[in-house]
Amino acid sequence: MTPVSAIIRRRFSCRSYDNKPLDDDLLRTFRQAVEASAPGLFGNAPRFVLLEMDELPRDVWKKLGTYGVIQNARLYLAGMIRPAPMATVDYGYCKEKLILKATELGLGTCWLGGTFAISAFGRAAGMRRDELMPTVSPVGFATGRLRLAERILRGFAGSDHRLPWTELFFRDSTAAPLSAGEAGPYAEALENVRLAPSASNKQPWRIIREPEQSAFSFYLSRSAGYRHLRDVSLQEIDMGIAMCHFDLTVKASGIAGSWHQDDAAPKIKSWEYTAAWQAVGE
Ligand SMILES: Cc1cc2nc3c(=O)[nH]c(=O)nc-3n(C[C@H](O)[C@H](O)[C@H](O)COP(=O)(O)O)c2cc1C
Repeated sequence: MTPVSAIIRRRFSCRSYDNKPLDDDLLRTFRQAVEASAPGLFGNAPRFVLLEMDELPRDVWKKLGTYGVIQNARLYLAGMIRPAPMATVDYGYCKEKLILKATELGLGTCWLGGTFAISAFGRAAGMRRDELMPTVSPVGFATGRLRLAERILRGFAGSDHRLPWTELFFRDSTAAPLSAGEAGPYAEALENVRLAPSASNKQPWRIIREPEQSAFSFYLSRSAGYRHLRDVSLQEIDMGIAMCHFDLTVKASGIAGSWHQDDAAPKIKSWEYTAAWQAVGE
């Protein structure tokens, strides 16, 4: 297992935080990672801002609207995009890299797409007129025990449940599930997609290995009613997160490849093609 797989396994949606502040070194290291965030796979560069609650006037952070869901977070990672093709996917990809960086540093996080007040966060983060803020995430030390409200929320979202391989990964067509044995060197990357966080734990990603064996097409199986929340598709973010897990894992395994969008990708009923990964030199 690569170190990135260990980090992916350590991550969970943390909703209760210790009240103690991050020490300066830790905060500096994470801030540097946030400031160094590079554009995503399709060239869009989301803008990320770290918001320290201690520096906001009390009446502002009281309006952030994460009450009941998130407890005691003193730091938030807010992200913004300009609407453009694949911008939402790139947003998920770039932000998940930062979430995994925080996890690596021993910090808890939680993606929040619904339960936050956009106006207060937007103002605090200096959101521009042409930008959207798809999500924010608390960042901090996790408390040892899950609160009752948190346990209920986890149960409600079915957070500990992940779909089996047979429903997510296929070979050549949707008729034939792809087993971990058949996936060979790609099994770890696919398993890391399966462990990815997704809005309401819907796990909308579907992947087909193309006949050439070392090409993987990513499709989105949209859930009804989820298309647009605040002009952003949370499930396109989910897709970017899944692509991040796949990309980081193949890279860590020493497998070179690249992403592209193929106009001739097979059309699949009720799924939406997003992009494909192809090993280099195949
Ligand atoms: C794009 C996105 C939006 C999310 N929005 C919320 C949210 O508004 N509130 C919340 O409590 N959890 C939210 N989550 C967390 C998911 O519920 C969680 O990832 C999922 O249940 C799986 O649990 P895990 O992250 O602990 O593995 C969101 C996750 C993603 C990826």
